[in-house]
Amino acid sequence: MGLASRVLPGEPVTSLEAYVGSGGGRGLATARKLGAPAVIDEVEASGLRGRGGAGFPTGVKWRTVAGFASASLPATVVVNGAEGEPGTFKDRTLMRANPYAIIEGALIAALAVGADRAVIAIKASFETERQCLESAVIDVTNAGWAEDVALAVITGPGEYLFGEETGLLEVLDGRPPFPRTAPPFRHGVDDVGGEPDEPAGAVMAEPGPTGAPPALANNVETIANIPGLVAEGADWFRDFGTPESPGTIVCTVTGATRRHGVAELEMGTPLGEAIDLIGGGARRGRRLVAAMSGVANPLVPAERFATPLTYDDMQHIGSGLGAAGFIVLDDHTDLAAVAAGVSRFLAVESCGQCTPCKQDGLAIAEMLARVSESEANEYDLAGIADRVTTVADEARCFLAQQHQRVIDSVMRLFPDALRQHLDPNQPGVRPEPIVPIVDIRDGHAELDLRQLEKQPDWTFDAVDSGKAPVDRLAEGGDADGEP
Ligand SMILES: Cc1cc2nc3c(=O)[nH]c(=O)nc-3n(C[C@H](O)[C@H](O)[C@H](O)COP(=O)(O)O)c2cc1C
Ligand code: SF4
Repeated sequence: MGLASRVLPGEPVTSLEAYVGSGGGRGLATARKLGAPAVIDEVEASGLRGRGGAGFPTGVKWRTVAGFASASLPATVVVNGAEGEPGTFKDRTLMRANPYAIIEGALIAALAVGADRAVIAIKASFETERQCLESAVIDVTNAGWAEDVALAVITGPGEYLFGEETGLLEVLDGRPPFPRTAPPFRHGVDDVGGEPDEPAGAVMAEPGPTGAPPALANNVETIANIPGLVAEGADWFRDFGTPESPGTIVCTVTGATRRHGVAELEMGTPLGEAIDLIGGGARRGRRLVAAMSGVANPLVPAERFATPLTYDDMQHIGSGLGAAGFIVLDDHTDLAAVAAGVSRFLAVESCGQCTPCKQDGLAIAEMLARVSESEANEYDLAGIADRVTTVADEARCFLAQQHQRVIDSVMRLFPDALRQHLDPNQPGVRPEPIVPIVDIRDGHAELDLRQLEKQPDWTFDAVDSGKAPVDRLAEGGDADGEP
């Protein structure tokens, strides 16, 4: 267990020549020799699970998308590089350090599902990543690797929901990132059949000659694993990790550690070891209290730091691996301020298609801010507990459940964290900035503090309009919350 280097090289790969020199290109050559069905078999046999957060088996997704192929229109491969999860910087690190592997992986995916287009979707603000990817696309295209697959880097808005798979497909269709209703294997980009302004969600993709083509959406890290896996085979892939969570995982560690960083680790490495290896452990004189996997899963108390980083083990302790971006909390961290920060981020980023997610979410955020600032009373504590039970009612996407799970875990695991702020002698603190990472330099994460000025209506206006983003944008508002 410990550090590994399968997808994250020690030094950035900046030319196709260097990439080929380190073994790049063999995966695509092998895939062309094997053909689509055998490639899907290999990915399925490898046990690779999606690194975007949910850990869905990649081979199963590919097989299903291939099975839903339209007879008339080819599918699209969408590489999700929207990375907006607070505490996570691994996809941006990969796009900077290993862009050729992402593009080679996308071409193999296109071959497997019969796609004629592969797009890598990133936020418009990811300038360095865009340059790395675009120059790699040019090199790969000039070298003839793409054959008849059109490669493109597409930029989208700063919203957290741009990373949600169906929100991303909506953006590619020219609409705001409002999650669709349908479960996986839906229509893809350039959705056919609907009105241009109408969200595509309700209609499922279907097989057969009249069916619209599906889209295959995979996370950047998932796709970066494909070339090595196909070149070396499923058994090689399984040399690392556990039977249920094979391979490696690229982790981010930030928060109350000596340093911040991103590194690739063998799956199954204990969480505490990851925090030590990447973050250098606790700061002098401090004691670690908990870690939080982005804003997606319940807190992991320090007593559970021996838990192996696998999907099953993290689930078994009542949390989740998520995108393996750990925000570490120590005995100087005010957990009420952290809860208020998480709640604010999720309530602001909620699109408002589901009323409880936006309304209960904002109410929880306001009450938690009052608690953190030591201006709350018993009614606020009861109100938070009450709204946490309803915030995820009828939720269309997972954002509302994230809100429920994280805040519920703070109340459950650290019952005094909020209550101590009712003591009039307890000083108030501002909510912790729980926001995306802009960069990690010299062992220090730079946070996107502009997020703290974002209003719940997704503007950066001085005063919030009180409208949910879905209503404001339906009235012709600006589709991008960026100022
Ligand atoms: C609110 C929300 C935000 C998400 N953001 C991202 C993201 O930034 N990048 C990503 O790859 N997946 C993100 N996901 C997960 C995607 O919806 C999807 O599961 C993933 O892209 C699938 O790829 P995988 O199977 O390779 O993991 C997000 C999900 C939710 C609910
Ligand atoms: S659960 Fe929240 S973020 Fe997701 S679609 Fe509904 S309102 Fe939007």
